[in-house]
Amino acid sequence: MFPVGGLGTRFLPATKAMPKEMLTVVDKPLIQYAVEEARAAGIEEFIFVTGRGKTVIEDHFDYSYELNDMLNQRGKQAELDVIEASMLDPGQVGYTRQQEPLGLGHAVWCARNMVGDEPFAVLLADDLILSEEPCLKQLIDAWGATGGNMIAAMEVPIEQTDRYGIIEPTGDANGRLVEVCGLIEKPTPDEAPSNLAVIGRYILMPEVFDSLSRHQRGAGNEIQLTDALSAMIGSAPFHGFRFEGRRFDCGSRSGFVQANIACALARDDLRDDIVEFISRVGKDEP
Ligand code: G1P
Repeated sequence: MFPVGGLGTRFLPATKAMPKEMLTVVDKPLIQYAVEEARAAGIEEFIFVTGRGKTVIEDHFDYSYELNDMLNQRGKQAELDVIEASMLDPGQVGYTRQQEPLGLGHAVWCARNMVGDEPFAVLLADDLILSEEPCLKQLIDAWGATGGNMIAAMEVPIEQTDRYGIIEPTGDANGRLVEVCGLIEKPTPDEAPSNLAVIGRYILMPEVFDSLSRHQRGAGNEIQLTDALSAMIGSAPFHGFRFEGRRFDCGSRSGFVQANIACALARDDLRDDIVEFISRVGKDEP
């Protein structure tokens, strides 16, 4: 499930008429990175929780007759292959709308009937994660042994706890797998039980929908997924997983620019140019 209904106000003016999930890192929209990660983890069915002004996301994953026809006529096979990679299989994708921006928990709840009664994954496209093994695949492998709810976790600077869901770990909190005994959405550094933050990859039990159906408001007066998960502690296994990889906060301008640089440096066709450019900029040369 990809909650993509958010307004993206932090990225105005870019997001005035364009969904933030369509912001491109090098040449691919953020949402496509998330979809590719899910696919690489073996996910076969995709649900997008969209909102007003987000139909371009549906178009992005759909067939474009004019474009395909034009590329075919011009014999542009490489471009056709690129387009093909963004297609989702027929009948394997569903869209539903979050009619009001009432928070991440509410967005997830909006897709309850599409998910049905089985565990599911949630990916937040704002969190771009570069890793050898896709982050969600790492979580699914770990989840195989634990079941229950599992969230991706990462240490953040203590002064930034008010940007994240923060985990209260129990027992041995130093390994990759951390048992969660508490969870707080966006605490101040004083209130934070640790500096271990929730990153936007979740594997959730369908019982979370019962918890979400209480529509309880939390931080920012929004219906928080974190609060619904916190209410489930004790009734099902609950773990954080410290994934391997580099995470970029593409919900922030700096993180977004860093993601662009890192992704460009990872590409053979761009690396040399970018390295050369950065070394010049570093010396304040034009
Ligand atoms: C959301 C979650 C938060 C989590 C974060 C990860 O917050 O509510 O618990 O730590 O994603 O990126 P948002 O970034 O939507 O404010």
